[in-house]
Amino acid sequence: MNQSIKSIGVLTSGGDAPGMNAAIRAIVRTALYYDLKVFGIKHGYQGLILNQIEHLRSHDVAAIIQRGGTILKTARSEAFKTEEGMHTAFENLKQHDMDALVVIGGDGSFRGATEFGKRYGIRIVGLPGTIDNDIYGTDVTIGYDTALNTIVEAVDKIRDTASSHDRMFFIEVMGRNAGFLTLRAGIACGAEAILIPEVESDIHKFVDYLENGYRRKKSSNIVLVAEGEKEGGAFEVVKKLQPYLKDYDVRVSVLGHIQRGGSPTAYDRYIATKMGVEAIKALLNGKSGIMIGIQNDKTVHVPIEKAIKIHKSIDLNELEIINIMNV
Ligand code: F6P
Repeated sequence: MNQSIKSIGVLTSGGDAPGMNAAIRAIVRTALYYDLKVFGIKHGYQGLILNQIEHLRSHDVAAIIQRGGTILKTARSEAFKTEEGMHTAFENLKQHDMDALVVIGGDGSFRGATEFGKRYGIRIVGLPGTIDNDIYGTDVTIGYDTALNTIVEAVDKIRDTASSHDRMFFIEVMGRNAGFLTLRAGIACGAEAILIPEVESDIHKFVDYLENGYRRKKSSNIVLVAEGEKEGGAFEVVKKLQPYLKDYDVRVSVLGHIQRGGSPTAYDRYIATKMGVEAIKALLNGKSGIMIGIQNDKTVHVPIEKAIKIHKSIDLNELEIINIMNV
């Protein structure tokens, strides 16, 4: 172990995700286990610029493993993208004698961290924290499993009312520009169709289905629309499909930020804890510029630049499952 690290900082950045608290707890307790001092930085990079930094002890992270959101709060900082903002952040980091930073967030947060690390020689380790699961190098991100379960619960409820009224529902699912949440939720909810940004021809195929009346024999139709769908969100998609929807009683539901909240699932708590422990061990072993990922249930070190640059692709076999299930 590299004992040159004496003190670390931890922050959450970008959209919050269930399981971030479990990761913070793991980082703090592992650091303390190895006799490191830990600072919590509030409101992500913005708090680093504003010097919103506090010393964290073991009891500060007690009973947070089950809590959604992030006790450190989060923000998307524009100021951190400027030279001046980054410099102030560095000054505050040095004032607290922090040797390294653990950043929990999405690829935008990693971009900021990489730039900061390179410019000021700060050791950085990233933990993928986003419900979108759109980060290369890890099978899953912290928060994805909880969001999936929230979506499935919500869609199941909509299915009850959809069946009672013989309705077709277009349900908009989060995920920014990616369709991971929509695809997995579609399989788990037994959706009749999904529209995701990764597959451009989906909407045309869907029109074919509508035109031949195939789906009318069902008492309910659930179509999940990824918010990043190229044709637009659920309302826009319905507008575009209007000529083909005359025979259907259609409703639209946008799930929204309900997908980001709630107590993390056991799986999210588990991976967040495992990644948090590994982040500190990696720093103590002299590692920097890496993201801790999960591949085949094991923690892995992924160069953070790769995690940012390489596009994580959808498994098209999973898409086929939706079609097979709707035979
Ligand atoms: O990245 C997480 C996420 O919830 C995306 O799925 C969504 O597009 C975005 O954040 C919403 O961001 P905001 O909370 O800033 O509206």
